[in-house]
Amino acid sequence: MRTRSLGFFSVVLLLLTPWAGADGQARMESPFESARAAQVADSILRLMTLEEKVGQLNQLPGSGTQTGPRVPQGGEALVRSGRIGSFLGIFGADYTRELQRIASQESRLRIPLLFGLDVIHGFRTIFPVPLAQAASFDSARVEMSARDAAVEATAHGVTWTFAPMVDIARDPRWGRIVEGAGEDPYLGGVMAAAQVRGFQHGAGALGLGSSDALLATVKHFAGYGGAEGGRDYNTVELSERTLWETYLPPYEAGVKAGAATVMASFNDIGGTPAHSSDWLLRDVLRSRWGFRGLVISDWGGISELIPHGVAANRGEAAALGIRAGVDIDMSDAVYADSLAALVRSGRVPQPLVDSAVRHVLILKYALGLFSDPYRFSDAARERRYTLAPEHVAAARMAARESIVLLKNDNRTLPLRRDLRTIALIGPLADDGAAVLGGWAAEGKPGEAVSVAAGIRAALGPSVRIISVRGSPVDTADTTGFALARRAVSEADAVVLVIGERADMSGEASSRASIELPGSQRDLALAVIRAARQSTSGAKPVVAVLMNGRALAIPELAEEAPAILETWFLGSQHGNAVADVLFGAYNPGGKLPVTFPRATGQIPIYYNHRNTGRPADSANHYTSKYLDLPWTPQFPFGYGLSYTTFAYSNLRLSSSSIRAGEPVTVSVDVRNSGDRAGDEVVQLYLRDSVASVEEPIKSLRGARRVTLQPGEMRTVVFKLEPAAMSLYDRQMRRVIEPGIFNVYAGTNSSDLITAKLQVTGSVFVLAPSTPRFR
Ligand code: BGC
Repeated sequence: MRTRSLGFFSVVLLLLTPWAGADGQARMESPFESARAAQVADSILRLMTLEEKVGQLNQLPGSGTQTGPRVPQGGEALVRSGRIGSFLGIFGADYTRELQRIASQESRLRIPLLFGLDVIHGFRTIFPVPLAQAASFDSARVEMSARDAAVEATAHGVTWTFAPMVDIARDPRWGRIVEGAGEDPYLGGVMAAAQVRGFQHGAGALGLGSSDALLATVKHFAGYGGAEGGRDYNTVELSERTLWETYLPPYEAGVKAGAATVMASFNDIGGTPAHSSDWLLRDVLRSRWGFRGLVISDWGGISELIPHGVAANRGEAAALGIRAGVDIDMSDAVYADSLAALVRSGRVPQPLVDSAVRHVLILKYALGLFSDPYRFSDAARERRYTLAPEHVAAARMAARESIVLLKNDNRTLPLRRDLRTIALIGPLADDGAAVLGGWAAEGKPGEAVSVAAGIRAALGPSVRIISVRGSPVDTADTTGFALARRAVSEADAVVLVIGERADMSGEASSRASIELPGSQRDLALAVIRAARQSTSGAKPVVAVLMNGRALAIPELAEEAPAILETWFLGSQHGNAVADVLFGAYNPGGKLPVTFPRATGQIPIYYNHRNTGRPADSANHYTSKYLDLPWTPQFPFGYGLSYTTFAYSNLRLSSSSIRAGEPVTVSVDVRNSGDRAGDEVVQLYLRDSVASVEEPIKSLRGARRVTLQPGEMRTVVFKLEPAAMSLYDRQMRRVIEPGIFNVYAGTNSSDLITAKLQVTGSVFVLAPSTPRFR
């Protein structure tokens, strides 16, 4: 006990002075730059035994019971003996308080615990799934949603969320596309940063220390969304260039926004699994980007180095993990089992372990847990903020903004409110679980509003609603079609709710085919045709899609008069859909992913390269298919409105700049219709002739604006030098002189253009990227 009697009390004084200052106040210094935080961490480190150090790197999962989640058997003893530093999946003010009590009163060094949870799009009030939030193109809204989620989660003792997931996905077969912002690196970066700021209560990790700030985790580092064939956990094969240009920017944006933690990804890239990649976790993350926070493994990711075939046993896997820079081992106790022995035998240098522990202690200090281990475990706040009315109202706003109007022939939408009878058809129409989407934390289907409930609430009891499932979600049963047709014949309008259940996207939920599952396509066509051929005249039919990925819906796109993409919108799904169906809200979301015409077009994304033989219908020997058009069903950035917008007068502050200078781009956007509405004004750029082949266009700005009928707004974007840069053949980040095409418009296809001349010599923004190894 020498360490305790000599050193312990000298650090107590240090610890008791809170880092946090007044609760909720932003600090001037990030915990990662704080000399004080480092001093505290070092003084604790000096007191720790090797086993206690390894304990801080050990994170174990809890499991659910009837009274909420509990630590695994023996978990409390581990806390007492300092053999565990954090749990995942544990929450609840009273229970986390009790665990903190054990840690801070009954363990030798009194180090408090961290509690991690996947708070992905809400805790109890569920917001739209991340892909849907990206469709809002509204980073302020996304930040607010993350903030509300953090307020609810922290009140339940949670200190750490494993979000945002920022993996770029160009393959909608991959189920986890639902957890990210889609296909575009710029949008991905904007959404990553917004969520980090929201969870952590501000940029630069300066909000950490307020009792409603959650540690954010940028995941899954890196390239997880590139899984071959869209099959989850699969190998990723990317060129270094594509990795840097397309996949890495959102992680970097999250890190630059101050994310406290980063999670390694399950996949390998070109043969090196991320959990053993010191190139990724040290050269790129720490040296190139200056990350000072903590790296956590994904669930079991370190021991999976064995099936990956780069470690023969758990000991080797642990050594690879800690050497690569994985600080905390999530869930499989491989560090707990092997790390101390590896250090004692000299196979792992002690300073590697110390550095990992330092990262953990700095975060615990930054959260203010040393001065008050109970600050996140507050039953009064738990009652106050769980499903708080202001969160529910915000969830409805976020949900409305995420809806994308894909088609609206003859102004089918909005539907009249004075309908007498509505046929509500489809297997998802009254599904309170599906609306929540995957990773719904503590979200409860019983507290969520299905489409049926939303329509009923909007129209009141005087409207008759005939509800018919029509078909199951994913089996080939057609026996319900007859009832569906009969419902059509009795109704004035038809709302068809089809798509995927929540568990058909997300982790381990890839689909080989992205068409509508089961017999739903046939159900939809039967209903649409019945409505068209109705003896009392054609009836309006609206297809309401619910899904966690881009779908291929060629027949629906052809035949349905109106289509709404509603993803999974969370607790307020049904209310938001009803707001849009009956015109209380004019939809303005845009697709964050390209919608293919068929699975066989994958990968299809807007920012592709031109090739030497770009598709040309007049020339056989160009890049296309014999049996499908080369164009998508709906392009990236696409989405309609109940009004229309006209673009004009795209102009630059200067048509010629020197490489390395910024330029301002302005465009006039006018609401040319007769209703107020939101438009997402999009700005794209291409360096038309460069030393390397650049994408045909790349999103460089997007702004969601609300315009009254007839109103014109000049939308101004500042293009910083970085927006004009590319990786040259030495992988330097440079701006090359020449002509740039500037595009502005309503989606990635319908654009007006201007030219920008960049003069001078090549301007180097950043030296060559660290060599891939
Ligand atoms: C997922 C992570 C998640 C973790 C903890 C893993 O299976 O890949 O995204 O954060 O589980 O639940």
